[in-house]
Amino acid sequence: LQTLPPVQLADKYFHIFPEERDPLWQNPCHDKRHKDIWSKEKTCDRLPKFLVIGPQKTGTTALHSFLTLHPAITSNFLSPVTFEEIQFFNGPNYHNGIDWYMDFFPFPSNASTDFMFEKSANYLDSEVTPRRAAALLPRAKILALLINPADRAYSWYQHQRAHQDPAALNHTFHQRWLSHYQPSQLLIVDGSQLRSNPALVMEGVQRFLGVTPIFNYTQALTFDESKGFWCQKQEGGRSKCLGKSKGRKYPDMTPEARAFLAEYYREHNMALLKLLNRLGQALPTWLREELQSTS
Ligand code: A3P
Repeated sequence: LQTLPPVQLADKYFHIFPEERDPLWQNPCHDKRHKDIWSKEKTCDRLPKFLVIGPQKTGTTALHSFLTLHPAITSNFLSPVTFEEIQFFNGPNYHNGIDWYMDFFPFPSNASTDFMFEKSANYLDSEVTPRRAAALLPRAKILALLINPADRAYSWYQHQRAHQDPAALNHTFHQRWLSHYQPSQLLIVDGSQLRSNPALVMEGVQRFLGVTPIFNYTQALTFDESKGFWCQKQEGGRSKCLGKSKGRKYPDMTPEARAFLAEYYREHNMALLKLLNRLGQALPTWLREELQSTS
């Protein structure tokens, strides 16, 4: 048997299999050969059962905060470095490997009834994410939030103004998630309804996830008049709302801007209607209203 020193061997290997230069992490427990060499000290249960994939400005923080009120649902630990979302599948963090990812999750007390999840609002429109996510989490459920793209564009515009940063690209919902996950694994959450009636939306989300017990959000949430949003109910009639940057105060969109954006997004909304019908997903109320008012 002839072999080469490690570096030359690696060079040769990647020359023959160039597509393997970029790793694709899979769950070690899904393949017996991998499981046999996976350290006995390790577990494969420190992985999310579902992902909230975004996009930004649709209420992902609110959905995240409501989910974590549920006794059986746990989110990831915050990064000690960024205090932000993990953003594992979409960028350079992916190359830190699955141990790095698993360290963000607690050991579940019961792997079959505990629901761990993570929310990274940039996953939805990331090119590489669906393939990578499906390789590691083939049984995961996926939550995507959609609001009226005109409102989202305006919210994003206000976000940019608040951050004084240059314009960013506006991504549209892309079917590529569906080439990696079954339609039954995907739930489109109506982000406008999450804002106006979160208890109802959270009930639907729980049924889709199959999480028990069904948690009653009517008792856990309260509408905060001064914030103008639903918040977590606290002792003594007080409430705990999301931070200043979620649910900003700004003037309503002008009718001219709304009309322009309604026209601008009309074709995209039509395409979305067709896609949702084909998938058998409920139509968000904002989409019905938008298409009625512009038809
Ligand atoms: P605005 O600040 O423009 O109103 P994300 O967390 O995905 O970035 O989304 C932020 C948006 O979530 C906010 O945008 C707000 O409209 C919406 N939202 C929905 N429910 C909310 C809640 N209960 N509290 C605060 N913001 C909420």
